[in-house]
Amino acid sequence: MNQYVYDSKVKPLTVNDLLAMKQRGEKISCLTAYDAGFSTLIDKVGVDMMLVGDSLGMVIQGHETTLSVTIRDMVYHTRCVSTARHRAFIIADLPFMSYATPLIAAKNAAKLIQLGGAQMVKLEGARIEIVRFLVDQGIPVCGHLGLLPQLINQLGSYKVQGKEPADAAKIIADAHQLQQAGAGLLVLECVPADLAREISIQLDIPVIGIGAGVACDGQVLVLYDMLNIGSGKRPRFSRNFMGDAGSIEEAINAYHQAVKQSRFPTAEHSF
Ligand code: KIV
Repeated sequence: MNQYVYDSKVKPLTVNDLLAMKQRGEKISCLTAYDAGFSTLIDKVGVDMMLVGDSLGMVIQGHETTLSVTIRDMVYHTRCVSTARHRAFIIADLPFMSYATPLIAAKNAAKLIQLGGAQMVKLEGARIEIVRFLVDQGIPVCGHLGLLPQLINQLGSYKVQGKEPADAAKIIADAHQLQQAGAGLLVLECVPADLAREISIQLDIPVIGIGAGVACDGQVLVLYDMLNIGSGKRPRFSRNFMGDAGSIEEAINAYHQAVKQSRFPTAEHSF
């Protein structure tokens, strides 16, 4: 495996670079990031993507859910992350209710890109018309299927999705529709590993898993979970990479290498 050698003159990865990684079978590593300090470390290690996730509502702001995160919060944290990176591709979440209509979505996505420095925005669910509209405006979009944390008040709890055949078929159909609408990437959260494998094979665009098994084209974890920061219970699909590491940088590197070499996630972290 080619190991990336950090060079401050290196250019940010593009969506085409990520697509090429899928095509040549190279796993894509991704971590969430919310500030310049961690952005510097993650970028230096060579992690391919940073997701400024609305999980910041939980791990940074201390809320029970992601629902209170505003577009203003997202722009602020995206700016902090993008200022410090050299190479990693940056995706920023459109938070709850910030993409209720195509026009609202475009206005907020533009803020994440123009003010925050994101290269792509992520939104939850099969919002096909919104995705098509954003892509038509020249805004790269990452879809997000499976467990949708912004629907927590409808779901009732954070649980594995797509276990029943009908639910699995719906996720597969939604994934195809998102790709057809122009989504450039897809995050699959908390779905059975076999389902994620099937979707990763069927789609041309890279599929990034979290709690979705090792066969996805790439992996993402919430940074604070994998560094074992916080008092909450770590999700089963995550791993404490600080356990064997002497520093945060070593832990991030251990995660990055484990993803690249398909050593993470294992069956113990999958459904
Ligand atoms: O907000 C976030 O961190 C996310 C990941 C869980 C994929 O969307």
